[in-house]
Amino acid sequence: MAVSFETSVVFSLFAGLTVLGFASSAQFHELFQPGWANDHFVYEGELLKLKLDNYSGAGFASKSKYLFGKVSMQIKLVEGDSAGTVTAYYMSSDGPYHNEFDFEFLGNTTGEPYLVQTNVYVNGVGNREQRMSLWFDPTKDFHSYSILWNQRQVVFLVDETPIRVHTNMEHKGIPFPKDQAMGVYSSIWNADDWATQGGLVKTDWSHAPFVASYKGFEIDACECPVSVATNEIGKKCSSTGEKRFWWDEPTLSELSLHQSHQLVWVRANHLVYDYCADTARFPVMPVECEHHRH
Ligand SMILES: *[C@@H]1O[C@H](CO)[C@@H](O)[C@H](O)[C@H]1NC(C)=O
Ligand SMILES: *[C@@H]1O[C@H](CO)[C@@H](O)[C@H](O)[C@H]1NC(C)=O
Repeated sequence: MAVSFETSVVFSLFAGLTVLGFASSAQFHELFQPGWANDHFVYEGELLKLKLDNYSGAGFASKSKYLFGKVSMQIKLVEGDSAGTVTAYYMSSDGPYHNEFDFEFLGNTTGEPYLVQTNVYVNGVGNREQRMSLWFDPTKDFHSYSILWNQRQVVFLVDETPIRVHTNMEHKGIPFPKDQAMGVYSSIWNADDWATQGGLVKTDWSHAPFVASYKGFEIDACECPVSVATNEIGKKCSSTGEKRFWWDEPTLSELSLHQSHQLVWVRANHLVYDYCADTARFPVMPVECEHHRH
């Protein structure tokens, strides 16, 4: 929940404990609001469903912006034929030099695997795509998808297993996203020009509506009201003296040994594409890749 200050105060009583998963989940409307196509939203108790049909997709956005913390939601992706559709879940700041952390779930024909594409934009520049398959069928059940963000790293997690780490390498002169507050977004739309098998497979509208379902919304992050000036946000959301944010605990400055092993396993078994290894696209390997084992 968006109560980072209270959370950090509570946390200081238990200093040293890991409090991942500490946040309790909130109702959709407490944290989010529809961004577009209100008529493509279906509310069923705890569940939110977004529909894509030949008229429209749909998307929602957090009411607040945040700097650092952890954002999670449970998503059940489009069942059956989802070819051509993309369900995106991401954090983003505003403006031409924005930062962005993306999960994009690329649909497929019935029985063929979804792919998860992740990307990181820093100061308006992306081109850092990775693609993975998953070790379960993401259309059968809800699974949790999270972004953990602190001054040292951005970690993409699936059911708490890290699938990607973007490490702060400012000491090598590589910019790291840590000065702009970000909103949290999700949407479903038609992307059949590229999403499935490189755009070969088109959306079959006879199978519409395509439905992505959501529940378990959690944001445990430093909330940045619009009233707080940009230059004050960094100060407000940094741990100093008395004020300790849980995500600044040293144990979260890098993956634990167990998590590193999980990441190695995921990459060995599920990585389909990594921009760092795409020499056709990047004859000179992007600088951060030289230092990234992940
Ligand atoms: C959308 O699909 C419906 C049902 O298949 C069809 O009746 C309608 O004409 C389509 N609308 C557009 C804008 O393509
Ligand atoms: C869809 O399935 C095909 C065949 O199994 C696979 O090659 C492809 O990577 C899958 N995912 C996407 C998004 O195309």
